[in-house]
Amino acid sequence: MKNITIFGKGNMAKVIAERFTLAGNHVEMFGSKDPVGKIGDIVVLAVPYSAVASILDANKSELTGKVVVDITNPVNFGTMDGLLVSADSSATEEFVKLAPQASFVKAFNTNFASTLAGDKNTTVLFASNDENAKAVLVESLKGSQLDLVDAGSLKRARELEALGFLQITLAIREKISWMGGFSLVE
Ligand SMILES: NC(=O)c1ccc[n+]([C@@H]2O[C@H](COP(=O)([O-])OP(=O)(O)OC[C@H]3O[C@@H](n4cnc5c(N)ncnc54)[C@H](OP(=O)(O)O)[C@@H]3O)[C@@H](O)[C@H]2O)c1
Repeated sequence: MKNITIFGKGNMAKVIAERFTLAGNHVEMFGSKDPVGKIGDIVVLAVPYSAVASILDANKSELTGKVVVDITNPVNFGTMDGLLVSADSSATEEFVKLAPQASFVKAFNTNFASTLAGDKNTTVLFASNDENAKAVLVESLKGSQLDLVDAGSLKRARELEALGFLQITLAIREKISWMGGFSLVE
């Protein structure tokens, strides 16, 4: 059993909280107006990309040694034609620079919220340079009915964010539904 802190109380926060709870963990969620209490073993950033830097800054010392799960898709919603990070980086790699004391994992960004709702099997891709952080995340979600697939090092966050972006553009253009998305075929 792990203590999970989720920043955000929106669409993704709720369904990710349900999955961690299903796996037997204790979850606490903080919205933008809530005072932040004790931070758990695993921290999930279920907030807009633009809100992350201030959260990392405000909780610097509490994040030391914590597994921080970045689920953001840093989409340029102004143009809907690209990401807000350069092609040779990713949101997660930029967050590592802001909070090197934490162990970052990119995960959940290729899953639409509606596909995580309930207890059906869904594939969650994740990436990190920290093998221990990956193991902690996988272990904590055993029993959640999620199939966690290790996509490799943190550099793969670039491809995961590109995939997340492509999936969003397909849904906006009504080529797939918001219940849809890419799946892995073994
Ligand atoms: N929706 C999806 O299907 C999906 C899929 C994959 C990835 N994502 C990513 O997941 C993240 C969250 O998306 P969402 O759809 O769940 O958004 P959402 O429903 O709009 O929820 C965003 C949440 O972030 C909170 N928030 C904003 N600034 C905060 C702060 N400084 N401290 C704590 N909480 C703060 C908001 O609280 P207030 O309401 O109080 O401002 C709200 O609860 C985004 O980065 C998105 O790119 C979303």
